Amino acid sequence: MTAAIRSHPRALVAYYSRSGNTRRVAEVIAAELGADLEPITDGTDRRGFLGYLRAARDAIRGHGTAIGEPVHDPAAYDLVVVGTPVWASAVTPAIRTYLARHAGRLPDAALFLTHGGTGRERVFSQMTTLCGRFPLGAFALREEELRGGWEPQARAFARDLLATTGRRHRVAEVASAV
Ligand SMILES: Cc1cc2nc3c(=O)[nH]c(=O)nc-3n(C[C@H](O)[C@H](O)[C@H](O)COP(=O)(O)O)c2cc1C
Repeated sequence: MTAAIRSHPRALVAYYSRSGNTRRVAEVIAAELGADLEPITDGTDRRGFLGYLRAARDAIRGHGTAIGEPVHDPAAYDLVVVGTPVWASAVTPAIRTYLARHAGRLPDAALFLTHGGTGRERVFSQMTTLCGRFPLGAFALREEELRGGWEPQARAFARDLLATTGRRHRVAEVASAV
């Protein structure tokens, strides 16, 4: 008996967001991919001015943080898309911890971030190192772009990922079904 061949790769979008920008982008990407969403929560209080200072300090020092237990196992997916804001030209402690925890267990991975205009390349490079594998794609939006019509760009990013990972996924599914 041959196993049923799924036509669509399973996708997960995991993200951290302090003030909502990265969450909005995550939701659009997830809707386009038909993906599950995994909001990563940070146990450290990042609210207000003191929270901002703690956030910048922890990001500069490359600290991780206590994150809420994720609901989804990324290893159960064909594609995991991970998103973060840029803090002090660095990846956020919550996403640093999430990626470090799952390094080596991630399937195809892709990255996205939101930022104010600096640190984008550095953060992609940090995330790639933490993932332990080269991402299928990387996508960034500036705060000012988020005030305009950015959604088509986010959807196009997701469709490109589907095309790439979908091709690999179909080959793997067919191979395992014969
Ligand atoms: C503590 C802190 C540090 C930040 N540092 C940078 C930075 O170095 N470069 C930058 O472009 N934006 C920086 N930002 C702006 C955020 O990256 C940007 O507002 C992002 O869209 C916020 O995403 P969120 O709403 O999902 O939390 C910083 C924001 C915070 C809170």
